[in-house]
Amino acid sequence: MRVLFLGEIVGRCGIGVIKNTIKNLRTKTMSGNRELDEIASEGVDFVVANAEGATGGYGCGLNNALSLHHMGIDVLTLGEKTYYKIDMVEGLPKHDRILRPANYPEDAPGRGVRHYSSEGGNRICVINLLGMMGFTNPHLNNPFLFVENVVNKALEETPFVFVIYHAQATAEKIAMGKLLAGKASAVVCTHAKVLTADASILENRTAYISDLGRCGSAMSVGGFDPQQEIAKYRTGVNGRSRETWENPELQGLLCEFDNKTGNALSVKTIRIPVGVKPLAQTY
Ligand SMILES: [Fe+2]
Repeated sequence: MRVLFLGEIVGRCGIGVIKNTIKNLRTKTMSGNRELDEIASEGVDFVVANAEGATGGYGCGLNNALSLHHMGIDVLTLGEKTYYKIDMVEGLPKHDRILRPANYPEDAPGRGVRHYSSEGGNRICVINLLGMMGFTNPHLNNPFLFVENVVNKALEETPFVFVIYHAQATAEKIAMGKLLAGKASAVVCTHAKVLTADASILENRTAYISDLGRCGSAMSVGGFDPQQEIAKYRTGVNGRSRETWENPELQGLLCEFDNKTGNALSVKTIRIPVGVKPLAQTY
């Protein structure tokens, strides 16, 4: 089974990247983009992406989430910005393709663990978790105490258990990878939006990467206009970030898993330039 884990989708540029790529990969349709076509020739059975920055970089509105699903993403994960958009608060319990962090309080709208079917009919459990350092969410369950039970329970039903760890500190992400090495099929991390060079297979089973990067402008500060981000640092005025369209890329990790055991067989980081037509700034 071939699974594509995508980095955080940032703004309209990121949505444009998804629109211009994922359908081709799912339908094995050639696009003329050599790197994309290499993946499309063998197809992709399941796609997971973080979407908490899809709506202008700050949260994900329900319409954006649903259209990203229709573009070919099976599961959209969120993070510390899960409830930034009010329609997501209401929409999360109704839409099983969107996952909030599982270690939010039990009464929080939506769920963080769900089962899905891949293109080839494999049953997959996706667990979305929020990290500890740098987030002001004291109500969270400690993910290191919380996750093992959840993974063990999931393994009773399927060998394909994917943990998406949305966390800030690299050391914390690596620690989570080590905790679940040999147990989960994948521990892949998001939030930093910078693709890391440490993709590996832990204990002959667990696909791991410290950050999946981003889908959106590569020549930017986390998908945002650098000048605006510099101004924030220079002035201390926390102005709104502006989206940017320079060098759009599709970033993430392409993994192959054994169809019986769920063990990762190969991992490959992808960083593919994608043509996206810029849209006018509306704010
Ligand atoms: Fe985040």
